[in-house]
Amino acid sequence: MNKRIWDNLYFRNLYMDRKNNGLVFLDMKKEIGTKIEELKNKHSTIILAHNYQIPEVQDIADFVGDSLDLAMRATKTDAKNIVFCGVNFMAESAKILNPDKNVIIPDIDARCPMADMVNSEDLMKLKNDNPDAEVVAYINTTAEIKTLSDICCTSSNGAKIVKNSSSEKVIFIPDRHLGAYIQRLVPDKEMILWPGLCPTHHQIRKEDILKLKKLHPEAEILVHPECRLEVIDIADYAFSTNGMVNYARKSDNKEFIIGTEKGLCHRLKKENPDKIFYPVKSAVCPNMKKITLEKVLNSLRTLEPQIKLSDEVIEKARKPLQRMMKVGRGD
Ligand code: 13P
Ligand code: SF4
Repeated sequence: MNKRIWDNLYFRNLYMDRKNNGLVFLDMKKEIGTKIEELKNKHSTIILAHNYQIPEVQDIADFVGDSLDLAMRATKTDAKNIVFCGVNFMAESAKILNPDKNVIIPDIDARCPMADMVNSEDLMKLKNDNPDAEVVAYINTTAEIKTLSDICCTSSNGAKIVKNSSSEKVIFIPDRHLGAYIQRLVPDKEMILWPGLCPTHHQIRKEDILKLKKLHPEAEILVHPECRLEVIDIADYAFSTNGMVNYARKSDNKEFIIGTEKGLCHRLKKENPDKIFYPVKSAVCPNMKKITLEKVLNSLRTLEPQIKLSDEVIEKARKPLQRMMKVGRGD
């Protein structure tokens, strides 16, 4: 197709269905959405999407939420198949909690780089050096690492879980920023922090937030606790992504600076049309953005790619996840 036509926004929203006699143009989003709906019902499938997914994917999902909410939703469905629009550790958690269901992730390469910053060998060494410490694993860890952990947590309930730990010492993996934030909230515990981080949140600088505040002095600043402490220090609140959604809904304030992956602003705007949200424009998680409508449709057609884990890993990784689920939300 002529490049100039393709570059035109209208045409970019059109889909060429070659099977239907060649050049038949269809409104892409609408058509794919209809096909997704048909296949979803036919195959007894539920679509779960994280708050950072692209708007089109959030819009076709049955539930949109943060990592804790989605793990909980995954245990409350009768559907045989779960299409998980998020990153790998989230889909793995859904599989661990529902071993009898097919859990499908539309792009198997959508991985969280922070989750890949822990390896079993170094974790085992740290555990052996600190036999009295409990391992609290942020849910952003691989299934294999969960098998070596005592309890999981998310940004919603991390402080509650560390506070209630039966041990005085905690090895917290893998996010050093979230760990440092929790340590502040729970000063009585001795926390050993793994040196991992989220590249997307780590690159949000205090100056980015202050610039937005200068432009929008009435706006309240909400940030994710994966941000650096210096960013959290200038914020009004640090919340999980659902925590931000809940706060923005209840607040009388009309404007908010959002210090997290900017995909969350789609849900915030949709649920609060009378309020204004200012994202940090550079805050993008490239892995979350790997999931597209086309890939979701393909997953529904093929029920692939599926999360595959051994029975042994599922068995061992389920314990720390279930312990976390019993604690529930902390925000
Ligand atoms: P939430 O659980 O707050 O949605 O965070 C998940 C995540 O990956 C943040 O980067
Ligand atoms: Fe991982 Fe950061 Fe992306 Fe969340 S935003 S999935 S922590 S890389």
